[in-house]
Amino acid sequence: MEDAFVIKGGKKLRGEVKLSGAKNVALKVIIAALLFDEKVTLQNIPSISDVTELLNLIESLGGKAGFVEENTVVVDGRSLKLNKVDLLYASKIRVSFMLFAPLLYKFNHCFVPNPGGCRIGARPIDRTVDGMKKMNIDVFYDSKTGYYEASMKNKPTGSYTFPKPSHTGTELLIMLGVLGKGQIILDNAALEPEIDDLIRFLNLAGAKIKREGKKIYIEGISKLHANSPFSIMSDRNEAVTFITLACATKSEIIISNISRSLIDSFLKKLKQANASVTEHTANQLSCSSNFLLKATKLETSPHPGFMTDWQPNWAVLMTQANGESFIYERVFENRFSYVNELRKLGAQIDFVKPPVNNPQEYFFFNFDPNKKYNQAIRIVGPQKLHGGALTIFDLRAGATLAIAALIAEGESIVNGVSILNRGYENFTEKIINLGGDIKQV
Ligand code: EPU
Repeated sequence: MEDAFVIKGGKKLRGEVKLSGAKNVALKVIIAALLFDEKVTLQNIPSISDVTELLNLIESLGGKAGFVEENTVVVDGRSLKLNKVDLLYASKIRVSFMLFAPLLYKFNHCFVPNPGGCRIGARPIDRTVDGMKKMNIDVFYDSKTGYYEASMKNKPTGSYTFPKPSHTGTELLIMLGVLGKGQIILDNAALEPEIDDLIRFLNLAGAKIKREGKKIYIEGISKLHANSPFSIMSDRNEAVTFITLACATKSEIIISNISRSLIDSFLKKLKQANASVTEHTANQLSCSSNFLLKATKLETSPHPGFMTDWQPNWAVLMTQANGESFIYERVFENRFSYVNELRKLGAQIDFVKPPVNNPQEYFFFNFDPNKKYNQAIRIVGPQKLHGGALTIFDLRAGATLAIAALIAEGESIVNGVSILNRGYENFTEKIINLGGDIKQV
């Protein structure tokens, strides 16, 4: 299997990148489409392996879901016949736990494996499960099998306040509430724009969901009806990846299909770092940066803060900035898998331990005082990067390492490309179109 990139870096790039549909919307609308009693057509769905794995998983349950043409998927949940999610399929795709919603509506009773154990930390779903219980769903975890068993005797109802926000947790509770009874209120809900795209999809199909900041009001309805194909939003994580590439290589790249407001916190940070991104047209951003970048300090936090998915990109960018930069990761544990890899290219990065007064509040994961964490790094720049042999350990870090190799002088090998392909559509082609020297071998 072709699972490595050979990259010859150090070139200036130029051209336009058309962003693909957002992975983190595609996966959720595909699952939500299983709530309908009819076929649902979804557009702008990226052809990435996470989507393929999810479609395979749905087929393994008896549902019908697949690409009918480029970037168009049709989902038909009427033929679902199994209420137990297979462990092998589920292990490949973390959002499999969101199948609780369609399976409970279809069978009133279902078995879903624990999605925990992920490369970016333990990633438990305790808040989501508490929310399900508050909405009148019985959920029981069997530690012998690693499965959750859930049953729904009556339609979901009630309210839930997240102790700390959860992006997919908010989405699952929305999916459970949409066909529920009476008014359901979710408080301290997550604010990511991908959640709002899911809400837009459901509301266009007749749902009654209203967001007021962190409060989401759901008025249960009896049936969803897909009036027309639904086209999902662009991938803002992909936008950030290519903007980083442009700024780090001092290239001129135009990013299409993105509105500024979706990546506002990233653009503000870029400005601080002395890089510039301007509005090319209403839906296009133009990036170029000819100045020496300035070192920055940043902490990640959920939307509207600086998103955790973007910090690996930022670390690469800061290897090119003048001075000492710091990145504090607050959302996930274990999200610095790329640090050792960047060091192989000559980056000067080390882990630091800034004092944290109230870690239980400061971190968005469930902080355990008995555990050792690496949540902050210092980067010293500017540093000329050289080629090397790298390994990708998680999706977003994967794109980061490819970018680092594109900045570095000389040849690099980046292993583990299948991890990057889980979330980036036509990554190699997009880089080649910009004039980058990359091939998959
Ligand atoms: N958490 C818990 N308990 C819960 C829920 C979350 O401890 O019940 C913890 C998580 O372990 C994490 C923090 O709370 O440390 C925030 O987690 P959240 O639930 O908000 O994240 P997620 O839903 O698991 C989604 C995206 C991530 C993105 C984050 C933040 C999808 C499929 N994943 O994860 O995207 O980084 O929200 O916006 O939507 C990616 O695309 O590669 C990716 C990791």
